[in-house]
Amino acid sequence: MKKIMCTVLLCALLAPSMAFALEEAAAVFQQGTLPSLKELYAPYFDFGSAVKLSGVRSGGLMDLFLSQFNIVTHENELKPEAVLDVASSRRLAQDDQTAVAINIDKAKPLLDLARQHGIKVHGHVLVWHSQTPEVFFREGYTPSGGFVARDIMLARLDNYIRLVFEQTGRDYPGIIVSWDVVNEAIGDAAGEMRQSLWTQVIGDDFVLEAFRIARKYAPKDVMLYYNDYSTPYEPKLTGILRLLEKLKAEGNIDGCGFQCHYQMGTPSINQIKNAMDKVIALGFPLRISEMDILVNDNSENSLRRQAIRYGEIFDVFRKYKDHIVAVHTWGIRDDLSWKAQHYPLLFDKNNQPKPAFFAITDLPI
Ligand code: GLA
Repeated sequence: MKKIMCTVLLCALLAPSMAFALEEAAAVFQQGTLPSLKELYAPYFDFGSAVKLSGVRSGGLMDLFLSQFNIVTHENELKPEAVLDVASSRRLAQDDQTAVAINIDKAKPLLDLARQHGIKVHGHVLVWHSQTPEVFFREGYTPSGGFVARDIMLARLDNYIRLVFEQTGRDYPGIIVSWDVVNEAIGDAAGEMRQSLWTQVIGDDFVLEAFRIARKYAPKDVMLYYNDYSTPYEPKLTGILRLLEKLKAEGNIDGCGFQCHYQMGTPSINQIKNAMDKVIALGFPLRISEMDILVNDNSENSLRRQAIRYGEIFDVFRKYKDHIVAVHTWGIRDDLSWKAQHYPLLFDKNNQPKPAFFAITDLPI
């Protein structure tokens, strides 16, 4: 792995025939000897990906998925909009406004697959301003109901998190090793709390409350994370650090997730390192939770530049290995990504490794 940056830089400088390098690497892949990210990175950290299981199945990605990753995140199926059972909650609310019903059926196929193949699961996500039904915050779980009082919402939050831990713990003990308890609570512009229905109905302390509740119900060895994007940028970084300090004081958090949805030009390597240093200085391990790097097109030149950028950033990750628990890409294949038009991932639409894959393994790009 130490050779990687030299290889990348040498290739960039000497600009060897890209077509030849691709052909050569594809041939390696054909022979079934494509390096496995999870094996190659075992001395460093877990290597994972977000997965939409239907896409993995219909895209013929199963073998690739199983060979490359040892931890997986549901792309959507453990988010509140997939888990909260609104119809049943509405029925329960006729007697008790604090009652909550959940249903984890949508998450089960990937949990089953993970159990079958000994793959770990990172749970994403318990509390978020997005992909959460608005009726969760309303009287009777109906669109026409007013917003519930703070104490009702806190009781709903307690019930929701309790049920998620109870049901996943009962049906899949030991499979979910960590959770994003709260996602994206800090706003971009001022580094203050993001205004959302959570702050409106509970208040700014909803994050502290969510972690208190999660700690109360999570199995002892399950790690609890705060997760956010744009972590390298100020003033957001300062806002995140302020929040992490408060969470640390209460002892209910175990780590911080950097989403790492990055551009080609930004953030700089120094900005990434600075943010990582500051979070590590607070005593937190890091999870690179949703990495992808956007490019404008899939020309050879763009994909080679993307590979160099992946290589440079992974060089940092490897240097920080003692502080990084896992690196996850947000998806496996470009055309199935949420940013498909920006070719952000390690594999192309034909399930072939891209130069970015070669750059973070030991192949020439
Ligand atoms: C955020 C969320 C993820 C996902 C991505 C984009 O980063 O944390 O759950 O929605 O956006 O798809």
